[in-house]
Amino acid sequence: MDVVILENSDAVAAEGAQRICTLLGEKPDAVLGLATGRTPLAMYRQLAADCKRGRVTFADVTTFNLDEYVGLNADDPQSYRRYMNRELFEQINIDPSNTKLPMCEPGVNPVSVGPRYEAAIRAAGGIDLQVLGIGQNGHIGFNEPTSSLNSRTRVKTLTRETLERNSQYFDDADGQPLIAVTMGIATIMDATAVLLLATGQDKAAAIQQLVEGPVSAMWPATALQLHETVTVLIDDAAASRLEKRAYYDWVGQQRQRLQSQFDGE
Ligand code: GLP
Repeated sequence: MDVVILENSDAVAAEGAQRICTLLGEKPDAVLGLATGRTPLAMYRQLAADCKRGRVTFADVTTFNLDEYVGLNADDPQSYRRYMNRELFEQINIDPSNTKLPMCEPGVNPVSVGPRYEAAIRAAGGIDLQVLGIGQNGHIGFNEPTSSLNSRTRVKTLTRETLERNSQYFDDADGQPLIAVTMGIATIMDATAVLLLATGQDKAAAIQQLVEGPVSAMWPATALQLHETVTVLIDDAAASRLEKRAYYDWVGQQRQRLQSQFDGE
């Protein structure tokens, strides 16, 4: 795992956006896996600005979001579809038909959504870069603690702590769905590369487990230790409980030193 510690959340957003721009420069028709939540918002704003300035184009990009609540219409203000349209898709030059979420609108059998979503990801050639946030309890997507590390896109019942934390986004608590469809951990592990973002002190325990804890379904993000190409992009606060912090900083310095020898090539 590449643990990149930056001074604050703005730097995390800028670096995350830069990495996506670099990928799209190399592969304009890349398939991106995207996340919702508070964490990637600043990065999405940066990407929108980059797109407006012509630094990056999304014309040939396809996206697959990690998750969506069960039983919400696409135009529901609380749906992740609305979040993605508002925060990113309407701000960039992406073809809306190339933006996918595991939608489970009222009347759709939730069990049918997962296999179809998996097939769509495969048909698109797989995900080149999966963007992730992380829950305080170590969830990625909505893979809550005890999720199978081999899981695929499916229905997941949310934990009380996740519901409580996400209730801030719902005006009416009764309207908050208790279940979601989420990519599984094996789905995420299939991505060619993973970029996990975390900022703030409230993520420090989950980040410590992710990087230094044992691989365990109790902290689902720890499965990423078994992935070949993961970058953990975090700010100082989220890094504050890492025991080997000095080592990650040292690795970063060595990486820069090595890279500078090849700059300009
Ligand atoms: C949510 C989402 C995740 C997200 C995580 C952290 O419930 N399902 O995809 O990464 O929790 O959210 P935030 O970035 O708001 O802390």
